[in-house]
Amino acid sequence: MAITQSAAPPQVTIWETTNAIVASRALHVVAELGVADHVGQQSTPVATIAVGCGVDPRSLDRVLRLLSSIGIFARRRGGYAHTDASLLLRSDAPGSMRAFARMMNLRLMNETFTELMHSVRSGEPAVNLVEPRGFWAYLTDHPDQARVFGEAMEARAAAYIAEVLAAYDFRRFTTIADIGGGLGHLLRALLTAAPGATGILFDLPEVVAATDVAVERLTTVAGDFFRDPLPRADLYIVMEVLHDWDDQDCLRILSAIRRGAAPGATVAVIENIVPETGDDPRVNALDVLMLAITGGRERTAAELADLFGSSGFRLQAVIPTAGPMKVVEATAV
Ligand SMILES: C[S@@+](CC[C@H](N)C(=O)[O-])C[C@H]1O[C@@H](n2cnc3c(N)ncnc32)[C@H](O)[C@@H]1O
Repeated sequence: MAITQSAAPPQVTIWETTNAIVASRALHVVAELGVADHVGQQSTPVATIAVGCGVDPRSLDRVLRLLSSIGIFARRRGGYAHTDASLLLRSDAPGSMRAFARMMNLRLMNETFTELMHSVRSGEPAVNLVEPRGFWAYLTDHPDQARVFGEAMEARAAAYIAEVLAAYDFRRFTTIADIGGGLGHLLRALLTAAPGATGILFDLPEVVAATDVAVERLTTVAGDFFRDPLPRADLYIVMEVLHDWDDQDCLRILSAIRRGAAPGATVAVIENIVPETGDDPRVNALDVLMLAITGGRERTAAELADLFGSSGFRLQAVIPTAGPMKVVEATAV
């Protein structure tokens, strides 16, 4: 007997999933062009938006009509006004997600995902076909794209940092190291919530160089977690990093943390966690993205517990947040 997941007729499910790429690509283009920055408080004529972006008004109108039909912009009197979703595409919006929507325009993302078939056939990350040195080496060589990626991570995190801070008491710790902390968005928020703590942001040299270092109680350490010693801390944050790597590399990262850690130190892995039962389509989508783009994967809490057990840590707790992320806490043994 067939298993039915969706209330839509089966043909519609296939049709919609096949064509999801159209709206997705329209969104990437609109974000890349900065269309939302040219839409005012009231409905703005499409010709005005097109002049602002330097593009063809008729084509832009068709792309915006598609997006407005799914709630991104509202079509009014031959022009477009903002909705809550399109406001998030403005460059100056609090929690702007423009960079996140631009991320799939990055050459490596775009071309790699086109090669998903390679991952499925070979079990290898598709990125090997496009950039055999891997995703991070490519970003190192392309600072403009690395900036968009870093801002995309910041934009994505903006949506759930408050939920993480509400779920986990960071004030217990005095030295907090954020390993692969990107532009330092989580650490900055966390130091505000934990006024007695100091923070150390650890990431690749070119990423650390792009961060705003003038933050009280925050220092940066540039390095490679596969080669360089990690700073000593009593809490290590590892947010959306392990999912970029296969199990062997995760063990190398966790073992490097263990070598640098103060006795009894805590690791807080903050990631989407594959549920033991049921399905979370967002986690599954991220998992397939990782399959192609980095060779990493999303994991269950039990899989993370195994990695902890093999790298000198013991799982303590899996703490849900109000959003999609979980805090998986382990202590050094
Ligand atoms: C998916 S991003 C997550 C960033 C941030 N933790 C967040 O959740 O927004 C992964 C991070 O790992 C960093 N990274 C990748 N390889 C690294 C390495 N070998 N050593 C240190 N950091 C690395 C990247 O530069 C990037 O900032």
